[in-house]
Amino acid sequence: MPDASGPELKTPALPYTDEVKAKTDHLYPRVAKSIPEIEWRVMAPYIAAINDLKKEKNAVILAHNYMTPEIFYCVGDFAGDSLQLAKEAAKSDADVIVQAGVHFMAETSKILCPDKTVLIPDPKAGCSLASSITGADVRLLKQKYPGVPVVTYVNTTADVKAETDICCTSSNAVEVVEHAAKEFGTDTVILIPDQFLARNVAAMTDIKIVTWAGACEVHERFTAEDIREIREGNPGVIVLAHPECPPDVLAEADFAGSTSGMSNYVKENQPNNVVLITECSMSDNVALENPNVNFVRPCNLCPYMKMISLPKILRSLQTMEHEVTIDPEIIEKARRPIERMIALPLKRQSMYNHQHAPEVAAVEARS
Ligand code: 13P
Ligand code: SF4
Repeated sequence: MPDASGPELKTPALPYTDEVKAKTDHLYPRVAKSIPEIEWRVMAPYIAAINDLKKEKNAVILAHNYMTPEIFYCVGDFAGDSLQLAKEAAKSDADVIVQAGVHFMAETSKILCPDKTVLIPDPKAGCSLASSITGADVRLLKQKYPGVPVVTYVNTTADVKAETDICCTSSNAVEVVEHAAKEFGTDTVILIPDQFLARNVAAMTDIKIVTWAGACEVHERFTAEDIREIREGNPGVIVLAHPECPPDVLAEADFAGSTSGMSNYVKENQPNNVVLITECSMSDNVALENPNVNFVRPCNLCPYMKMISLPKILRSLQTMEHEVTIDPEIIEKARRPIERMIALPLKRQSMYNHQHAPEVAAVEARS
């Protein structure tokens, strides 16, 4: 079966037996439109073994919207965007959390549930945003802008969160920035590390934004020209984009929102023809729940999300590797900004319906 970082995968292929068939037949209809039967017979033994081990070890799997359909629909207990997964982790009474997502998401679960065992099936599943900035960088930023609140995107390490006043995700960034400015009595907010998310937020608020020169390597590759070409080739197509895309891409889109924001848009509006300007697995997952919607499918793969596979999830549950550990002092400091975000009474998803992006006040970088 395909595996983005194959060489470390030692698990041999498992046989498709009558027992496996009995345990998985009810799951196949969820993914049949996307996975041919011949591939399903390779996946099903892993799915059966993972679901058995979850019961045995009182484990839950949190699956991000970018997971492939067999993970998203057949072994994930909770699926969603970064904010929803953080909330599920906080509520969970399982002993073990397996993060089917990337490392910063697993750290968020560990920060919120320090007494639980949190596993990441591949510790190399990183994120270009999380690796763009360190806790030391944030300390220098705070010296340069004293008294200015620090709003940090959840796509960051625990060290960075520990230096943060409040976290945000793409689904609440505009509201969190406005809340932070009000609470601290400032007209400026530091919003790090995604310069494109920051620019897209700046277009929706009067608060001045200082940001960091980070970017998502998946979303920064989309261009406004791509969108115009898609529209030309697919008249009437509805374009949905993630707010990690550059502002001129969002200016060409019909709607921009978090991964779940895009998914909900499709569910609620049932467009005839839609394109999701984001990671490839999103369209596969959303298409399975919306059989009457046609998906145009240019997309970029996230190499980190694609490191998570069924064999690695199984191995993780069998060996209890790779456990996420964080210094307890950092956990204490990093929990506050995440809990403050979760506690905010936000009524709706942040909207990014701008036609142009005003400049941010500054884009900082390591000197
Ligand atoms: P969401 O919070 O929208 O799920 O985004 C997380 C992510 O990594 C997008 O690239
Ligand atoms: Fe990070 Fe971008 Fe991958 Fe999301 S899609 S995990 S932001 S690199």
